[in-house]
Amino acid sequence: MAAIMAAEQGTRGPGIRCFHAQETNAMADNATGDNGDNGAPGLTRCDLEDMDNPFILFEHWFEYAQKSEPEDANAMALATVDDAGLPDVRMVLLKGYNEAGFVFYTNLTSRKGVELAANPKAALCLHWKSLRRQVRIRGPVEPVSHAEADDYFQSRPRLSRIGAWASRQSQPLESRFALEKAVAVQTARFAAGSIPRPDFWSGYRIVPETIEFWREAAFRLHDRVLYRREAAGNWSRTRLYP
Ligand SMILES: Cc1cc2nc3c(=O)[nH]c(=O)nc-3n(C[C@H](O)[C@H](O)[C@H](O)COP(=O)(O)O)c2cc1C
Repeated sequence: MAAIMAAEQGTRGPGIRCFHAQETNAMADNATGDNGDNGAPGLTRCDLEDMDNPFILFEHWFEYAQKSEPEDANAMALATVDDAGLPDVRMVLLKGYNEAGFVFYTNLTSRKGVELAANPKAALCLHWKSLRRQVRIRGPVEPVSHAEADDYFQSRPRLSRIGAWASRQSQPLESRFALEKAVAVQTARFAAGSIPRPDFWSGYRIVPETIEFWREAAFRLHDRVLYRREAAGNWSRTRLYP
């Protein structure tokens, strides 16, 4: 995918060049003709040429977000529903993505874990303020493999691994002291040697059925492009009113 990206960037620059020739984009109407978003590829007809695969577009945008966002470009809102159908939303960190889906890690007995066990479907929303862009993703959710979760867990700092053992995420906590005590107990337990991944801590993969790219434009005439996975496995692409 990186090779595809390099080839595309090489042939038509960072995706801004065709604004005026190809399509009106109100954000380009400022004094410099630049929308101030560091040349991230946009959603003009030119930018979307050959973008039949939303993962390529996502990779472009995510790379630019990692350069431009001061903190946590991988932060995303994760929406689930409870057993009464009431939506629930919280932030998590995107820890991996490819054509199979978008992965985050958590405590499986947390509220989100319980909700996903009962209803394994979710929606994600990434918002990059400095780029004035968002990406929305919806689809079924599946657990990552044990091997994948083990690899990621072992890549975390030692104290984060101990914290995972100490936290009964989303359960009532009597006091801050009780948490510190739990951390001390686990620190003593794992004083020497490796720290295995708890069986109540792992990752989920959201397998996208739809991915929508949104880009701010002047006068609220924003760009929206919705990709939908078709039965044959290919992606359809539809532009939406803002
Ligand atoms: C920027 C940010 C990133 C976060 N990333 C994670 C994460 O990757 N995994 C996680 O379990 N909680 C993460 N949290 C904490 C969650 O938002 C939430 O408080 C916690 O997971 C409990 O949610 P739940 O009770 O709905 O299960 C993050 C919070 C913020 C603000």
